[in-house]
Amino acid sequence: MGIQLGDIAPDFTAETTEGTLSLHDYLGDGWGVLFSHPADFTPVCTTELGDFANRKDEFAKRNTKLIGVSVDSVESHRGWSADIAETQGTGLNYPLVGDENRSVANLYGMIHPNAIETATVRTVFIIGPDKKIKLTLTYPAAIGRNVDEIIRALDALQLSAQYGVSTPVNWKDGDDVIISPAISDTDAKAKFPKGFKTLTPYLRLTPQPNK
Ligand code: BEZ
Repeated sequence: MGIQLGDIAPDFTAETTEGTLSLHDYLGDGWGVLFSHPADFTPVCTTELGDFANRKDEFAKRNTKLIGVSVDSVESHRGWSADIAETQGTGLNYPLVGDENRSVANLYGMIHPNAIETATVRTVFIIGPDKKIKLTLTYPAAIGRNVDEIIRALDALQLSAQYGVSTPVNWKDGDDVIISPAISDTDAKAKFPKGFKTLTPYLRLTPQPNK
């Protein structure tokens, strides 16, 4: 069945570009983005892993650590980092698992044999401080991911976790958010002192609580 939302992110210990680490210990009590790419020294992956490196501070501001995986060796990852630095501006500055025996890839269902038999596809697992899977994305090898979207989703997940709100279509940081229909108008007035607009009884919008 594969890993589903709400599951505990399976823990693992692996060799990485930053030494041996265990996922749960590495994440501590913060958030995590675990992602796989198909192969080192390939074009789309070079742009993606460089963008994650360039934006490491944006993840850190959100108390979120990055960790990547592919079935290449740690030695290969280290060699590739120079190309990432040269072409994208920043080399690897987060751990990249050398998963030659595919143990992490298999644990997370990152290999989709009908798409690519021998390598991981582009998966993303956002993991919460409770170590549960909060969001997953899967892209094929030819299509680079959108790091803006990963950060946007992380912002939405963190708001939802902290304030119990939901985010509407195309929400971005600063936009109004949705009050759960399970909260009465009376409770909503107390909980959201900035007030709210009622579009229908089940669709009420309030300014983003942490702005
Ligand atoms: C790429 O990163 O460009 C790529 C990697 C594996 C297969 C196809 C494309």
